[in-house]
Amino acid sequence: MMFKGLCQAAAIACLAITPISGLQAEPVSLEGVEWTGDPEKGAKVAKKCFVCHVVGSKGKGRIGPNLTGVFGRTSGTLEGYKYSKAMKAADVVWSAATLDEFLTKPKKFVPKTKMSFPGLKKEGQRHDLIAFLLKETS
Ligand code: HEC
Repeated sequence: MMFKGLCQAAAIACLAITPISGLQAEPVSLEGVEWTGDPEKGAKVAKKCFVCHVVGSKGKGRIGPNLTGVFGRTSGTLEGYKYSKAMKAADVVWSAATLDEFLTKPKKFVPKTKMSFPGLKKEGQRHDLIAFLLKETS
């Protein structure tokens, strides 16, 4: 779809015009763009991620790469972590918008990724999680 393509090209700008569910929560700001989602609810969703990922100064990662600094990072580039070829070749810059798409169905967005996670089908859950990650990984 045309609109979707545009969103990928201008991920950040697109956030501003994409309607987002769960509007009652405090917006979190990413590079001046407000991302709505509830970080507290997101913390619960993130437990699924922390089975494999770490944040902060806990090293390069457990099973998956350390997620600190993930926003603005190009996929597959955290030094010292051994990525799949697929993730290195994906060449996406992680933003709220690209994460939203990746986390819906990781193996669809990055075919052959070694991240064994089926995805989060519920948009609200993804947006809460991303709001949490924005705070937690910066
Ligand atoms: C079963 C373990 C597992 C779970 C659960 C998991 N991941 Fe991952 N994740 C990985 C692995 C392994 C990779 C590396 C993928 C590759 O190299 O193909 C990865 C890669 C990533 C990347 C790319 C990072 C980079 O530096 O390019 C992001 C972002 C990410 N995961 C976010 C998440 C989030 C958010 C969740 C929770 C919804 C999650 N993951 C759940 C194992 C997991």
